[in-house]
Amino acid sequence: MSVTPIGGRPGFSSHDELRQKVTTASLREQKLRHEPITCLTAYDYATARLVDEAGIEMTLVGDSLAQTILGYDNTLSVTMDEMLHHVKAVRRGVKRALLVADMPYGSYHVDPESALSNATRFVKEGGAEVVKIEGGEKRADLIRRIIDAEIPVAGHIGLTPQSVNVMGGYKVQGKNLSGIEQLMRDAVALDRAGVACIVLEGIPREVAAMITAEVGTPTIGIGAGPECDGQVLVFHDILNLTFAPPAKFVRRYGDAAALIGNAVRAFRADVKSLQYPSDEESYHLPKETRAGLETVLARKRAMRR
Ligand code: KIV
Repeated sequence: MSVTPIGGRPGFSSHDELRQKVTTASLREQKLRHEPITCLTAYDYATARLVDEAGIEMTLVGDSLAQTILGYDNTLSVTMDEMLHHVKAVRRGVKRALLVADMPYGSYHVDPESALSNATRFVKEGGAEVVKIEGGEKRADLIRRIIDAEIPVAGHIGLTPQSVNVMGGYKVQGKNLSGIEQLMRDAVALDRAGVACIVLEGIPREVAAMITAEVGTPTIGIGAGPECDGQVLVFHDILNLTFAPPAKFVRRYGDAAALIGNAVRAFRADVKSLQYPSDEESYHLPKETRAGLETVLARKRAMRR
């Protein structure tokens, strides 16, 4: 197994120091030995550290941040500069996981030169190790070109959110024979182009299983059933931070909305009732300064009389 030891960095536990850096090669090895691959999105330093230190193998700075972080209705508006800002923050928090940056809508659709230049920015400026591109067969040539420039690419097929206007909504894909055939062609084209993995989103379990058996590259499912080589979910979905009902495939592992809401309400109540800050939570003058200050104040009071 090809593994890279991690060098020491302040602030990370010694337990983490013992673990091995995840690479595109180690993901393939995981597929071969049927060890499920885990992936979560992260959008900032704190969440990146939590995800990384929990042992998740891939951290994705998804363009879903358009919705989860920036409050847009869909992923189409987020820009390269906005994505890069978050990729840099996540880079500072991730040590072991493979860092994947999502190419936003418009960053690879205009021409291959600008696509290559945007992918390069994610690597050089953001420290990403892999870039993710939505689309199958029709993106294979572009993906080959980016890989030729030494940038690993993650594919993404099925329900591709950047195609929301073409799909007419967020709809499960590959439900009929022609849809299944297209998905198979897409997966095989990406596999042949040499992608590091393929995200399978919003497709029937049976189709995801067929694709996973067919391709050598690891498949990472989201709403694609349990036969994929790995699973990805959105950080805000698993923690109830989306202010919307979850999709069918989302499992909630915590209620951060309740936790944060309760903490914020408790802070407000403490301030309003003068319970915060207490004397112990306040700084005090040194004894000598306090004595000097009392003398000065006494003198002032005497002068006023
Ligand atoms: O942007 C994102 O979060 C994604 C995942 C849902 C795969 O692309």
